[in-house]
Amino acid sequence: MAAREAFELVKDDLAVVEREISAESAASVETITTINQYLQAGGGKRLRPALLLLCTRLFGPSTDCARQLAAVVEMIHTATLVHDDVIDIAKTRRGRPSSNMVWGNHVSVLAGDWLYMQAFQLALRERNFHILDVLISLTQMMVEGELLQLERLHRIDVSEADYMELIDRKTAGLFSACASLGATAAGADEAAESNLRDFAWNLGMAFQLVDDILDFTSTEKILGKPAGNDLREGKVTLPMIYALADASEDERRAVETVMSDGSYERVPLMHIVQMLDRHRAVERAYERARSFTDKSGAILGTFPESAAQRALVSILELVTERSS
Ligand code: IPE
Ligand code: IPE
Ligand code: MG
Ligand code: MG
Repeated sequence: MAAREAFELVKDDLAVVEREISAESAASVETITTINQYLQAGGGKRLRPALLLLCTRLFGPSTDCARQLAAVVEMIHTATLVHDDVIDIAKTRRGRPSSNMVWGNHVSVLAGDWLYMQAFQLALRERNFHILDVLISLTQMMVEGELLQLERLHRIDVSEADYMELIDRKTAGLFSACASLGATAAGADEAAESNLRDFAWNLGMAFQLVDDILDFTSTEKILGKPAGNDLREGKVTLPMIYALADASEDERRAVETVMSDGSYERVPLMHIVQMLDRHRAVERAYERARSFTDKSGAILGTFPESAAQRALVSILELVTERSS
């Protein structure tokens, strides 16, 4: 099944999710409404709501609760991106100027806060403590992830374990929450929910790993955000960790130069990519990503065959093969 077909299965539900997000965008202060509309119109893959809806569909038909929670996770995701772009001083998001560039940091932080709380309002309508528990733990974990990342900025001695700890918090946690909520919306039992959570966690780890690989190998046109950004921002991600492990003194100095300059003026991105090639770093990082999606696939295999199950398998493929 092609990735497009995976989304096709939940297409009608995703359309409801979009309407729900629009309806929840209106604030009594116009600037916030304008920013929310700008963010929604920017697009994005809608991977998290699709994941949640497909998890519900593993157990039966879609539910109002699933659609509502799908809107919640996309809103939380969007709020984290708004704050992430402030923290990263990003200029572009989803192919357009990021909200911090258009409205500035102060307004963007507040708009992100508002969006978080609107997502929680929507979730609260389910009157289900388990849902709130999942969402609150998740949001705290993502904040911890962003903070850890800040603390490690410009450090060249990041280990693979440090990196995994970080992407677990900042990305995989949200994926596993989507699975949890999808199972909850379907009324699935605890064992199934826990299994599905593991499936989605591994998928999330692979997703962030690939995002970090694409940062080196793709282009701004395809990504909708600048390439080579992570190293310029002082973030040492897995491909770089692998390359640095057996880098020469000169190579290490080149990496440090990019990080301290915050630009590729003295050391072009091409040199850095060639260094990664010399150490097979991208290949090795892809292998690591595939080890996560293999685990996800094995867990999915324990669920009965269905259209939703096949769609989730194709999402696994999409994650390791995607170019944007
Ligand atoms: C971006 O997520 C943040 C990461 C976890 C890498 P996506 O790549 O899913 O962003 P959109 O929603 O499609 O823009
Ligand atoms: C992912 O981190 C963002 C969050 C999980 C909040 P990145 O900083 O790698 O995301 P991009 O590359 O800006 O989308
Ligand atoms: Mg960022
Ligand atoms: Mg990134």
